[in-house]
Amino acid sequence: MENTMKERHLDVLKLEHVSKNFGGVVAADDICIEINPGEIFGLIGPNGAGKTTILNIIMGIYDADKGNIYLGGTDITKLPTYKRARMGIARTFQHPRLLTRCDILTNIQMGIDLTKRTQKQNVDESELRELLEAANLQDVDLSLSVGQLSYGQQKLLEIVRAVLSHPYIMLVDEPAAGLNHREMDYIVALFNIAVKKGIAVLLIEHAMDLVMGICDRITVLNFGKQIMTGTPDEVQNNDEVIAAYLGGSANAED
Ligand SMILES: Nc1ncnc2c1ncn2[C@@H]1O[C@H](COP(=O)(O)OP(=O)(O)OP(=O)(O)O)[C@@H](O)[C@H]1O
Ligand SMILES: [Mg+2]
Repeated sequence: MENTMKERHLDVLKLEHVSKNFGGVVAADDICIEINPGEIFGLIGPNGAGKTTILNIIMGIYDADKGNIYLGGTDITKLPTYKRARMGIARTFQHPRLLTRCDILTNIQMGIDLTKRTQKQNVDESELRELLEAANLQDVDLSLSVGQLSYGQQKLLEIVRAVLSHPYIMLVDEPAAGLNHREMDYIVALFNIAVKKGIAVLLIEHAMDLVMGICDRITVLNFGKQIMTGTPDEVQNNDEVIAAYLGGSANAED
Protein backbone atom coordinates (compact mmCIF):
# COMPACT_ATOMS: atom_id res chain seq x y z
CA MET A 1 0.00 0.00 0.00
CA GLU A 2 2.75 2.40 1.02
CA ASN A 3 4.55 1.85 -2.27
CA THR A 4 1.58 2.60 -4.53
CA MET A 5 2.71 6.17 -5.14
CA LYS A 6 6.27 5.19 -5.94
CA GLU A 7 5.19 2.54 -8.42
CA ARG A 8 2.83 4.80 -10.30
CA HIS A 9 4.92 7.96 -10.38
CA LEU A 10 8.60 8.42 -10.92
CA ASP A 11 8.58 11.76 -9.17
CA VAL A 12 7.50 11.97 -5.54
CA LEU A 13 7.43 15.77 -5.60
CA LYS A 14 7.07 17.99 -8.62
CA LEU A 15 7.16 21.78 -8.82
CA GLU A 16 5.83 23.06 -12.11
CA HIS A 17 6.61 26.70 -13.01
CA VAL A 18 6.29 27.89 -9.41
CA SER A 19 6.69 31.63 -8.79
CA LYS A 20 6.39 33.81 -5.68
CA ASN A 21 6.74 37.54 -5.28
CA PHE A 22 6.97 39.46 -2.00
CA GLY A 23 6.02 43.08 -2.76
CA GLY A 24 8.34 43.33 -5.73
CA VAL A 25 11.01 40.89 -4.48
CA VAL A 26 10.95 37.84 -6.74
CA ALA A 27 11.69 35.05 -4.24
CA ALA A 28 10.85 32.19 -6.65
CA ASP A 29 10.85 32.64 -10.41
CA ASP A 30 9.40 29.85 -12.58
CA ILE A 31 10.90 26.99 -10.55
CA CYS A 32 10.61 23.49 -12.06
CA ILE A 33 11.89 20.59 -9.93
CA GLU A 34 11.14 16.86 -9.93
CA ILE A 35 12.36 14.70 -7.06
CA ASN A 36 12.39 10.89 -7.16
CA PRO A 37 11.57 8.52 -4.28
CA GLY A 38 14.64 7.92 -2.10
CA GLU A 39 16.57 10.70 -3.80
CA ILE A 40 18.59 13.25 -1.82
CA PHE A 41 17.99 16.47 -3.68
CA GLY A 42 19.94 19.60 -2.77
CA LEU A 43 18.69 23.17 -2.97
CA ILE A 44 21.56 25.64 -2.71
CA GLY A 45 22.29 29.29 -3.37
CA PRO A 46 23.33 32.50 -1.62
CA ASN A 47 21.45 34.01 1.33
CA GLY A 48 18.08 35.33 0.18
CA ALA A 49 18.10 33.19 -2.99
CA GLY A 50 14.65 31.79 -2.19
CA LYS A 51 15.43 28.37 -0.73
CA THR A 52 13.29 28.57 2.42
CA THR A 53 10.55 30.27 0.42
CA ILE A 54 10.34 27.19 -1.81
CA LEU A 55 10.01 24.93 1.25
CA ASN A 56 7.25 27.19 2.55
CA ILE A 57 5.44 27.01 -0.78
CA ILE A 58 5.74 23.22 -0.83
CA MET A 59 4.27 23.07 2.70
CA GLY A 60 1.51 25.57 1.88
CA ILE A 61 2.74 28.17 4.39
CA TYR A 62 2.83 30.52 1.40
CA ASP A 63 0.60 30.22 -1.66
CA ALA A 64 2.44 30.24 -4.94
CA ASP A 65 1.48 33.16 -7.19
CA LYS A 66 1.80 30.86 -10.18
CA GLY A 67 2.51 27.22 -10.86
CA ASN A 68 1.53 23.86 -9.42
CA ILE A 69 2.87 21.41 -6.86
CA TYR A 70 2.28 17.66 -7.12
CA LEU A 71 2.89 14.99 -4.50
CA GLY A 72 3.07 11.61 -6.23
CA GLY A 73 1.05 12.98 -9.12
CA THR A 74 -1.68 14.54 -6.92
CA ASP A 75 -2.05 18.29 -7.29
CA ILE A 76 -1.62 19.72 -3.77
CA THR A 77 -1.28 23.37 -4.82
CA LYS A 78 -4.48 24.47 -3.08
CA LEU A 79 -4.38 22.17 -0.05
CA PRO A 80 -3.85 23.48 3.51
CA THR A 81 -0.59 22.70 5.28
CA TYR A 82 -1.99 20.06 7.64
CA LYS A 83 -3.35 18.03 4.72
CA ARG A 84 -0.01 18.17 2.93
CA ALA A 85 1.69 16.96 6.13
CA ARG A 86 -0.77 14.09 6.45
CA MET A 87 -0.26 13.14 2.83
CA GLY A 88 3.40 12.54 3.58
CA ILE A 89 5.51 15.70 3.63
CA ALA A 90 7.65 16.17 6.76
CA ARG A 91 9.75 19.19 7.53
CA THR A 92 12.55 20.36 9.77
CA PHE A 93 13.39 24.01 10.35
CA GLN A 94 16.37 26.32 9.94
CA HIS A 95 16.10 26.81 13.73
CA PRO A 96 14.65 23.76 15.49
CA ARG A 97 10.98 24.04 16.37
CA LEU A 98 10.29 21.60 19.15
CA LEU A 99 8.24 22.01 22.31
CA THR A 100 11.22 22.68 24.55
CA ARG A 101 9.32 22.21 27.83
CA CYS A 102 7.83 18.85 26.79
CA ASP A 103 9.83 15.66 27.08
CA ILE A 104 11.65 14.12 24.13
CA LEU A 105 9.31 11.18 23.60
CA THR A 106 6.23 13.44 23.60
CA ASN A 107 7.85 15.63 20.96
CA ILE A 108 8.55 12.61 18.81
CA GLN A 109 5.03 11.24 19.16
CA MET A 110 3.41 14.58 18.38
CA GLY A 111 5.49 15.03 15.24
CA ILE A 112 4.47 11.61 14.04
CA ASP A 113 0.78 12.21 14.78
CA LEU A 114 0.84 15.38 12.66
CA THR A 115 2.50 13.75 9.65
CA LYS A 116 1.24 10.20 9.88
CA ARG A 117 -0.37 9.05 6.68
CA THR A 118 -1.75 5.90 8.25
CA GLN A 119 -3.63 5.33 11.50
CA LYS A 120 -2.40 7.02 14.62
CA GLN A 121 0.13 4.65 16.13
CA ASN A 122 2.88 4.45 18.68
CA VAL A 123 6.53 4.78 17.85
CA ASP A 124 8.14 1.54 16.69
CA GLU A 125 10.73 0.86 19.41
CA SER A 126 13.38 -0.81 17.26
CA GLU A 127 13.11 1.81 14.56
CA LEU A 128 13.39 4.55 17.19
CA ARG A 129 16.46 2.88 18.69
CA GLU A 130 18.14 2.60 15.27
CA LEU A 131 17.55 6.28 14.55
CA LEU A 132 18.61 7.47 18.01
CA GLU A 133 21.84 5.50 17.61
CA ALA A 134 22.49 7.03 14.20
CA ALA A 135 22.01 10.45 15.80
CA ASN A 136 24.20 9.50 18.80
CA LEU A 137 21.21 10.14 21.07
CA GLN A 138 20.95 6.53 22.29
CA ASP A 139 22.12 7.35 25.82
CA VAL A 140 19.80 10.33 26.27
CA ASP A 141 16.93 9.89 28.74
CA LEU A 142 13.78 10.35 26.63
CA SER A 143 11.87 11.71 29.62
CA LEU A 144 14.13 14.78 29.69
CA SER A 145 12.62 17.98 28.39
CA VAL A 146 13.82 18.92 24.92
CA GLY A 147 15.19 22.19 26.30
CA GLN A 148 17.87 20.17 28.10
CA LEU A 149 19.30 18.97 24.79
CA SER A 150 22.05 20.91 23.02
CA TYR A 151 21.19 22.89 19.89
CA GLY A 152 22.77 20.20 17.71
CA GLN A 153 20.90 17.41 19.49
CA GLN A 154 17.60 19.27 18.96
CA LYS A 155 18.29 19.56 15.23
CA LEU A 156 19.14 15.86 15.04
CA LEU A 157 16.00 15.01 17.00
CA GLU A 158 13.88 16.88 14.44
CA ILE A 159 15.31 14.68 11.69
CA VAL A 160 14.77 11.51 13.76
CA ARG A 161 11.15 12.55 14.24
CA ALA A 162 10.67 13.30 10.56
CA VAL A 163 11.99 9.87 9.51
CA LEU A 164 9.79 8.11 12.09
CA SER A 165 6.70 9.65 10.52
CA HIS A 166 7.46 7.73 7.28
CA PRO A 167 6.82 10.62 4.90
CA TYR A 168 7.27 10.37 1.15
CA ILE A 169 9.60 13.34 1.38
CA MET A 170 11.37 15.28 4.13
CA LEU A 171 12.13 18.96 3.63
CA VAL A 172 15.24 19.72 5.66
CA ASP A 173 16.30 23.35 6.03
CA GLU A 174 19.98 23.89 6.91
CA PRO A 175 20.42 20.91 9.26
CA ALA A 176 24.19 21.45 9.56
CA ALA A 177 24.06 25.12 10.57
CA GLY A 178 25.38 25.39 14.12
CA LEU A 179 26.52 21.74 14.18
CA ASN A 180 30.05 20.42 14.53
CA HIS A 181 31.63 17.96 12.09
CA ARG A 182 30.79 14.92 14.18
CA GLU A 183 27.14 15.96 14.29
CA MET A 184 27.20 16.42 10.51
CA ASP A 185 28.19 12.76 10.22
CA TYR A 186 25.11 11.87 12.26
CA ILE A 187 22.98 13.78 9.74
CA VAL A 188 24.45 11.69 6.96
CA ALA A 189 23.72 8.50 8.91
CA LEU A 190 20.09 9.59 9.42
CA PHE A 191 19.66 10.46 5.73
CA ASN A 192 21.06 7.06 4.77
CA ILE A 193 18.41 5.38 6.89
CA ALA A 194 15.71 7.60 5.35
CA VAL A 195 16.83 6.76 1.83
CA LYS A 196 16.79 3.02 2.60
CA LYS A 197 13.15 3.43 3.56
CA GLY A 198 12.46 5.07 0.18
CA ILE A 199 12.02 8.53 1.72
CA ALA A 200 13.16 11.40 -0.49
CA VAL A 201 15.05 14.31 1.08
CA LEU A 202 14.97 17.91 -0.12
CA LEU A 203 18.05 19.38 1.53
CA ILE A 204 18.82 23.08 1.86
CA GLU A 205 22.36 23.57 3.06
CA HIS A 206 25.31 25.96 2.90
CA ALA A 207 27.86 23.34 4.03
CA MET A 208 29.11 22.41 0.57
CA ASP A 209 31.13 19.37 1.61
CA LEU A 210 27.93 17.85 3.03
CA VAL A 211 25.80 18.79 0.00
CA MET A 212 28.29 17.63 -2.61
CA GLY A 213 28.97 14.43 -0.66
CA ILE A 214 25.41 13.16 -0.29
CA CYS A 215 23.13 14.72 -2.91
CA ASP A 216 22.11 12.83 -6.02
CA ARG A 217 21.11 16.05 -7.77
CA ILE A 218 21.15 19.71 -6.88
CA THR A 219 19.23 22.79 -7.96
CA VAL A 220 21.08 26.09 -7.67
CA LEU A 221 19.09 29.26 -7.02
CA ASN A 222 20.13 32.87 -7.31
CA PHE A 223 17.74 35.80 -6.74
CA GLY A 224 14.80 33.38 -7.01
CA LYS A 225 15.98 32.00 -10.37
CA GLN A 226 16.91 28.40 -11.01
CA ILE A 227 20.39 28.65 -12.49
CA MET A 228 20.72 24.93 -13.09
CA THR A 229 19.85 21.44 -11.88
CA GLY A 230 22.45 18.69 -12.11
CA THR A 231 24.72 16.24 -10.35
CA PRO A 232 27.23 17.56 -7.78
CA ASP A 233 29.97 17.31 -10.45
CA GLU A 234 27.95 19.25 -13.01
CA VAL A 235 27.07 21.92 -10.45
CA GLN A 236 30.65 22.34 -9.22
CA ASN A 237 31.91 22.78 -12.77
CA ASN A 238 29.27 25.20 -13.98
CA ASP A 239 30.68 28.68 -14.59
CA GLU A 240 27.44 30.49 -13.73
CA VAL A 241 27.14 28.60 -10.44
CA ILE A 242 30.76 29.31 -9.55
CA ALA A 243 30.28 33.00 -10.30
CA ALA A 244 27.00 33.29 -8.35
CA TYR A 245 27.78 31.11 -5.36
CA LEU A 246 30.58 28.57 -5.24
CA GLY A 247 33.34 31.01 -6.14
CA GLY A 248 32.81 32.84 -2.86
CA SER A 249 33.13 31.70 0.71
CA ALA A 250 31.33 28.39 0.11
CA ASN A 251 34.29 27.15 -1.91
CA ALA A 252 36.70 27.96 0.88
CA GLU A 253 35.43 24.89 2.75
CA ASP A 254 36.72 22.49 0.11
N1 LIG B 1 7.43 36.48 4.46
C1 LIG B 1 8.19 37.24 3.67
N2 LIG B 1 7.85 38.53 3.40
C2 LIG B 1 8.61 39.31 2.60
N3 LIG B 1 9.74 38.89 2.01
C3 LIG B 1 10.13 37.61 2.23
C4 LIG B 1 9.39 36.74 3.07
N4 LIG B 1 10.02 35.54 3.11
C5 LIG B 1 11.11 35.68 2.34
N5 LIG B 1 11.18 36.92 1.81
C6 LIG B 1 12.20 37.43 0.89
O1 LIG B 1 12.35 36.50 -0.16
C7 LIG B 1 13.70 36.34 -0.51
C8 LIG B 1 14.11 34.89 -0.34
O2 LIG B 1 14.17 34.59 1.06
P1 LIG B 1 14.43 33.12 1.62
O3 LIG B 1 14.26 33.17 3.09
O4 LIG B 1 13.61 32.15 0.85
O5 LIG B 1 15.98 32.93 1.25
P2 LIG B 1 16.97 31.72 1.57
O6 LIG B 1 17.52 31.28 0.27
O7 LIG B 1 16.29 30.72 2.42
O8 LIG B 1 18.14 32.46 2.39
P3 LIG B 1 19.05 31.95 3.62
O9 LIG B 1 20.16 31.16 3.01
O10 LIG B 1 19.57 33.24 4.21
O11 LIG B 1 18.20 31.20 4.57
C9 LIG B 1 14.50 37.31 0.36
O12 LIG B 1 14.69 38.50 -0.36
C10 LIG B 1 13.57 37.51 1.55
O13 LIG B 1 13.79 38.77 2.13
MG1 LIG C 1 16.58 30.02 4.37
